[in-house]
Amino acid sequence: MDGPPRRKTITDHLAFLQVLLLSPARTGAIAPSSVRLARAMVDGLIVAPGETIVEFGPGTGAFTAEIRRILPPQSSYLGIEIEPRFAELLRRRYPDLHFVEGSAEHAAQFLAKAGYDRVKAIICGLPFASLSSGVQDGIIEALETLVAPGVQFRTFQYVHAYGLPPAVRFRRRMGERFGPVTREAMVLRNLPPAYVLRWSR
Ligand SMILES: C[S@@+](CC[C@H](N)C(=O)[O-])C[C@H]1O[C@@H](n2cnc3c(N)ncnc32)[C@H](O)[C@@H]1O
Repeated sequence: MDGPPRRKTITDHLAFLQVLLLSPARTGAIAPSSVRLARAMVDGLIVAPGETIVEFGPGTGAFTAEIRRILPPQSSYLGIEIEPRFAELLRRRYPDLHFVEGSAEHAAQFLAKAGYDRVKAIICGLPFASLSSGVQDGIIEALETLVAPGVQFRTFQYVHAYGLPPAVRFRRRMGERFGPVTREAMVLRNLPPAYVLRWSR
């Protein structure tokens, strides 16, 4: 779908700050991601008509804007966002995309309810370095159903938090299920800088 790349607005920063103060661990970031990081998250991804992109934790839509740009006609998008304020903002901003309010742990049920079955990729903005082991495991369990051969899972981790125990735990658990991670070059133009991580089967 066409449309110019969205820059972050002051509204995005304020909405982010509000939600960060209410739910610091679930938000796990001080600002929405940059356009550079968003582009790195979708880099090289080719979506065919009939395929679906699932986004975990779209927040104010930093990655959503780039995902929307690579969606061909007759493809689908499902964004799963746990924070009601973000879900409302996203629905207003992208009325042509489908958002549900809830936890990515229930992704398979949300997809079934929406009637989408051919998942191409899961683009994930969840802050694994600050999510509990229970939520991490719930998400990994959900991925077990979604990541069929040919399906990619992409997420990012901040460079400064890369060595924190919850971040390391997440990568280890993912490695046990999905094999070695592919770590892309560091995206410096993001606050803070981040690595894009990819797994597939
Ligand atoms: C680090 S922010 C990233 C937001 C956006 N993707 C970006 O890059 O600017 C994490 C997002 O994940 C959402 N989130 C946290 N836990 C979640 C869960 N279990 N299911 C769905 N969304 C969740 C938060 O509300 C927040 O929007």
